[in-house]
Amino acid sequence: MRRNIGNSGLSVAPIGLGGMPMSIGGRPSEADALRTIHAALDAGMDLIDTADVYCLDDDDIGHNERLIAKALAARSDTAGIVVATKGGLERPGGDWTTNGRPDHLRRACDKSLTALGVAQIQLYQLHAPDDDVPFAESVGALAELRAAGKIAHVGLSNVSVEEIEIARAIVPIVSVQNRCNPFDRSAWDDGVVQHCTANGIAFLPYSPVGGGRGKAKVATDKVLGAVGKRHGVSPFQVTLAWLLAKSPVMLPIPGASKVASAVDSAAAMTLVLTAADLAELDAAFPT
Ligand SMILES: NC(=O)c1ccc[n+]([C@@H]2O[C@H](COP(=O)([O-])OP(=O)(O)OC[C@H]3O[C@@H](n4cnc5c(N)ncnc54)[C@H](OP(=O)(O)O)[C@@H]3O)[C@@H](O)[C@H]2O)c1
Repeated sequence: MRRNIGNSGLSVAPIGLGGMPMSIGGRPSEADALRTIHAALDAGMDLIDTADVYCLDDDDIGHNERLIAKALAARSDTAGIVVATKGGLERPGGDWTTNGRPDHLRRACDKSLTALGVAQIQLYQLHAPDDDVPFAESVGALAELRAAGKIAHVGLSNVSVEEIEIARAIVPIVSVQNRCNPFDRSAWDDGVVQHCTANGIAFLPYSPVGGGRGKAKVATDKVLGAVGKRHGVSPFQVTLAWLLAKSPVMLPIPGASKVASAVDSAAAMTLVLTAADLAELDAAFPT
């Protein structure tokens, strides 16, 4: 039932928690966010995905990392929990911009270590390639951070198969995080899911239930709803179980800002879809 994060030696429950909705615009109170993280852990999630830029703007960098650190510090059962963060973006005036320069990545990693309150980050992901910086230079910075022991494992996000291979020639890559859900199947069209599956690299579909705006599509989709009705579960759970069934390297990280969302998503870990369910879903969402 547990799934490996590539060949890192780390294994986690098949559904993780995405931290972004707890720190961007429209975020919940800190007390509600802490309750949501604790509910996710109580429900069996032990992978939390975050980033330095899950915040309001550049003055708020590290908001989500500090929140997660606070939630974990309040408990004594956090030994096996994997926190994956990212560097390589900035939030000037609340915008999302790339900065893959090695000096920025080094500074960002140091700030993430402080925000998370750890001596080493278990999984550090390059948030996105920066068009203004040779990709190999950004990845090289992460390889140096790994050699220095500041990060244990390197992951990538928003990358192509070609970029995965450039990176793997520089440093072992244990995970790839790209957008992927029933309504955005580009991760199959561009071959990234297939490549990760063939090479044993964990694939973390982001916005797995459609994202902040797209979640309404999942909520109202007829096929997801019909399959859910047969099992007495939400269309969100059906979506997550379908993703899990698509590849053994899948590790969806649904976001949540409410306890109910986190608990519902966690229940997808034990939802077993039948061959008939999967055939119906695959016909509706061909990959
Ligand atoms: N690498 C990247 O570039 C990138 C980009 C985007 C996201 N991410 C990561 O991926 C994670 C997930 O993506 P996302 O947050 O954009 O989108 P998502 O997981 O598709 O959707 C998140 C929203 O859907 C709702 N939701 C989730 N599960 C639900 C359930 N079981 N029942 C009802 N509602 C549910 C939540 O609502 P409530 O808020 O009301 O609980 C949440 O805000 C993020 O949190 C972040 O860690 C990475």
